[in-house]
Parts: sequence; structure tokens; C-alpha cells
Amino acid sequence: MRRLGRHFGEDEHTWALTGLFHDLDQDQTADDPEQHARLAAEWLVASNVDPTVINGVLAHAHPEFQTDRMSKAIVAADAVAGLLVAGALVRPEKSTGMKVSSIKKKLKEKAFAPGVNRDEIAQAEPNLGLSLDEFIALGIEGLQEVAPDIGL
Ligand SMILES: [Fe+2]
Repeated sequence: MRRLGRHFGEDEHTWALTGLFHDLDQDQTADDPEQHARLAAEWLVASNVDPTVINGVLAHAHPEFQTDRMSKAIVAADAVAGLLVAGALVRPEKSTGMKVSSIKKKLKEKAFAPGVNRDEIAQAEPNLGLSLDEFIALGIEGLQEVAPDIGL
């Protein structure tokens, strides 16, 4: 999200916070998709977090909140992040030297990281105006930026 926000010349800190907070209530809403993100939103409202961040958090789980570029981006970014992390975990060198072409191959392998919603990744093109190649390249760059912190 940080890398994407920067790409669009938007406030990357806001985008990064949305990514950071999006699954904040996961422990408590894992069995309740309707409540997922809504509980997190309550906490974030109580903490006076930027409303655009809260909207983005809600948007990743509830389409009615997908109203602006960031709240659409979180859906595709969440999905591609899952694919990229899975892709890094099966490489000895993790995210170092990761190529768009190899991630696109993983995308087509339905058995690889089956929990990753391919349709959500495909939304980057209509919703963000990014080709699949551009979107994956930005995702790889974003992952590589934080790789030392997360062991990938
Ligand atoms: Fe979620």
C-alpha cells in the first residue's frame, strides 16, 4: 500500500496505515465475515484515526465502502500481498531478485496459495488503471522495501 500510494503521488503514510490496520480485528471476527473490519472501524473511530483510513479498512471487506482510489486499492493490494509473501516463502532468496514473470506464473497455478483471490488481483487494472505487470512490479518493490523487517 505504501508503494502504491507513492506511485499515485498520494500520502503514502495514509495508504500504509490502511494496509497496517485492515485486518486489525481478525482474531475476533475470523468466524464472522459480516463483522470483520466493522469492529476494527469502531476501535479506529474511538482512537480518532483518519476517516479515510477507516473507510479503507471497511472497504477491504465490504464493497459499499470502495468509494475512492485507496479504498479500491486495498482489495487488490491485500490479495497480491498474499501471493507475493507465499511466492517469497518458497524461494531460498525470498523476495530478493523476485521477477514479475515468476509471480504471474504462480498466479496461473490455482493450487499455489489457493486462498489468494485472483479476481481481486485482476481488479487493479479496471480500478487503479495499472496493468497486471505494473501492479505486480509495484507489489514486489513494496515487499522488498520491508523485506528486512519481516524476514522476506
Ligand atoms: Fe480481512
